[in-house]
Amino acid sequence: MITDLRSDTFTKPTPAMLEAMFKAPVGDDVFGEDPSVNQLEAISAEMFGMEAALFCPSGTMTNQIGIKCHTQPGDEVICHRVSHVYIYEGGGIAFNSGSQVKALDGDRGRINAETVEAAINPDDVHKARTSLVSLENTANRGGGSCYDFADFHKIKEVCSKNSLNFHLDGARIWNALVAKGENPKQYGEVFDSISICLSKGLGAPVGSLLLGKHDFIKKARRVRKVFGGGMRQAGYMAAAGIYALEHNIGRLQEDHNHAKQIAAALEKKDFIGSIMPVETNILIFEVNGSYTAAAFCNKLRQHKIHCLTISDTQVRMVTHLDISKEMVSNLLQVIEAL
Ligand SMILES: Cc1ncc(COP(=O)(O)O)c(C=O)c1O
Repeated sequence: MITDLRSDTFTKPTPAMLEAMFKAPVGDDVFGEDPSVNQLEAISAEMFGMEAALFCPSGTMTNQIGIKCHTQPGDEVICHRVSHVYIYEGGGIAFNSGSQVKALDGDRGRINAETVEAAINPDDVHKARTSLVSLENTANRGGGSCYDFADFHKIKEVCSKNSLNFHLDGARIWNALVAKGENPKQYGEVFDSISICLSKGLGAPVGSLLLGKHDFIKKARRVRKVFGGGMRQAGYMAAAGIYALEHNIGRLQEDHNHAKQIAAALEKKDFIGSIMPVETNILIFEVNGSYTAAAFCNKLRQHKIHCLTISDTQVRMVTHLDISKEMVSNLLQVIEAL
């Protein structure tokens, strides 16, 4: 039994999900003729109260297409300094959009209206044109932290006042929705574009969607083709996504509870330093004293438990669909015995 806590991207499709994929009606999606993709796009757009959606292979692609459609070369994008779009997408903002980033500090991966407003460049030929604010919810490097919805409204106000577009990297929006008891339609009212992932907590093998207005998604569809993301019988993947939306959102609370249990066990150990508050399914903590982060992960690996070092002193664990109650109680025992 391997307990793989490195990421919620490690989930494998269940037999029921595979069955749904196997039975999917398909067509050529580049021609707009894949009924399963069309259905997934319609369901997702309607769920978030947005006009349209575009199915893509990855969250990196939906973020990058979103940024490309919102910016011109030479523009500036405001985001948190540890946001995925900035530090984990291969320099994509520069590579794909020719734009630069103004990276802001903020509590656990989140930025606020005051720092955003202060970061907007004046209309001056020396300065890059600020055109986009990009947030992440939940914030991965913030330990799965969630924004308070009121903060979205405040940042939106700043964006509207300054004619800035407002994008959300919602790779783990499902975890935020469940943890905060939010309605997806609230998000559609605030953001100009949202990237949602099916391949993280929801357990699909692949797939993300970009949501926005009709014209925006029309433009995004063209960029997806240019990026090489136009897939043909993608309905097999879309069917996994539909299955995931129908079956795997409600259970996320279980993952959040597991993460809290693990945090409580770690807290008792003197070689564990600060643990970021656990709001969802991501657990980030400091290891010190008798262990380095790498030594701690190696020790757990001897028990077939895999986790990730994210710096010399920090470890990340992510709970998900393939982490069972039994795996968690085994992990708790292993931690207890260290
Ligand atoms: C917050 C966040 N955004 C975007 C992505 C990108 O998703 P993908 O791996 O599908 O490209 C990830 C991946 O883990 C992520 O954690």
